[in-house]
Amino acid sequence: MAAAASVVVLCALVVLAAAGGASAWPVMSPSYYEASCPSVYDIVRRVVQEARCTDPRAPASLLRLHFHDCFVNGCDGSLLLDDFGAMHSEKNAPPNKGSARGFDVVDGIKAALENACPGVVSCADILALAAEISVELSGGPSWNVMLGRRDGTAANFEGARDLPGPTDDLDLLRRKFSEFNLDDTDFVALQGAHTIGRAQCRFFHDRLYNISGTEQPDQTLDMAYLNELRQSCPASDPESTALRNLDPPTPDAFDNSFYGNLLRNRGLLQSDQGMLSAPGGAASTTAPIVVRFAGSQDDFFRSFATAMVKMGNISPLTGSMGEIRRNCRVVNRG
Ligand code: HEM
Ligand SMILES: *[C@@H]1O[C@H](CO)[C@@H](O)[C@H](O)[C@H]1NC(C)=O
Repeated sequence: MAAAASVVVLCALVVLAAAGGASAWPVMSPSYYEASCPSVYDIVRRVVQEARCTDPRAPASLLRLHFHDCFVNGCDGSLLLDDFGAMHSEKNAPPNKGSARGFDVVDGIKAALENACPGVVSCADILALAAEISVELSGGPSWNVMLGRRDGTAANFEGARDLPGPTDDLDLLRRKFSEFNLDDTDFVALQGAHTIGRAQCRFFHDRLYNISGTEQPDQTLDMAYLNELRQSCPASDPESTALRNLDPPTPDAFDNSFYGNLLRNRGLLQSDQGMLSAPGGAASTTAPIVVRFAGSQDDFFRSFATAMVKMGNISPLTGSMGEIRRNCRVVNRG
């Protein structure tokens, strides 16, 4: 009798210990799919590599998608949802519309994964993996991608409107990052993503002709570079979608030359150059980090990898929250 009772007590304790322990175990981990989808990394890598063969810009576009996903409702794949009924897609918010791209590549990755391990890998994790692989394939650092995010069931159009913008001033941009516990080092490192990819004239047109309504070019823009940029971005077309490389010296290589450009007043976006050159001492904390990363690619790579893991941990849905979408563009039904 007493023995039986103590067994019950013991078992109850074990159950309690297990329940208590569960919350202490990491909900996300790099080996999350080890049993359920062991080839996840290789599959994502193969599709990204194929995309890169036909479009050298694909890695940059995929890297940006992870950022725009994580900064709106956390890293929950909400960016990938299309318009549906009353739900307004984040894709149509100004920072994304006619700009965010790579969605077809994500569809290709999802299709390959649904084929190999149906219903297992979330769209949010696909973006995190594709971002790391894109950086690595471009010659940048690698890192262990935390996995186990689940997909959200709603888009946040208003949230997407508020994404960091190229004409936001430095203090506002720093605030938008610190909201997610991304400090100045993370902020400067993450913008180093602009070592790859392109930007449309409409995002820096004001710098060339009419900065802050002054009808003057931006004084923090090198004159020779200004004249070069004016040739492909005419004054007559402020909405021009013509493309320029974000890092002209090595447009598709992930390296630290982006920071060297800033030191020579050759940042393409106002938000890029602002980290070094924002007026009124606003750049006093970010400028030394720009200088440090320009001088050490190792420092930049280490800080970038750390910051990407931090960004990837923004408000993930885990456990039984959210769902594993079957199609990244729509929430599951039925
Ligand atoms: C201050 C914050 C940031 C601002 C204001 C900003 C702004 C922009 C703008 C305006 C473009 C050009 C888009 C176009 O012309 O269609 C762009 C491109 C890009 N951004 Fe950012 N960005 C920021 C931070 C980041 C971060 C944190 C990442 C990733 C970690 C990132 C990755 C990229 C990449 C890779 C591209 C090129 C995309 C492509 O070629 O398709 N950006 N960004
Ligand atoms: C310059 O910008 C200001 C304010 O944005 C605007 O009112 C003005 O019309 C612009 N000037 C030109 C020449 O486009």
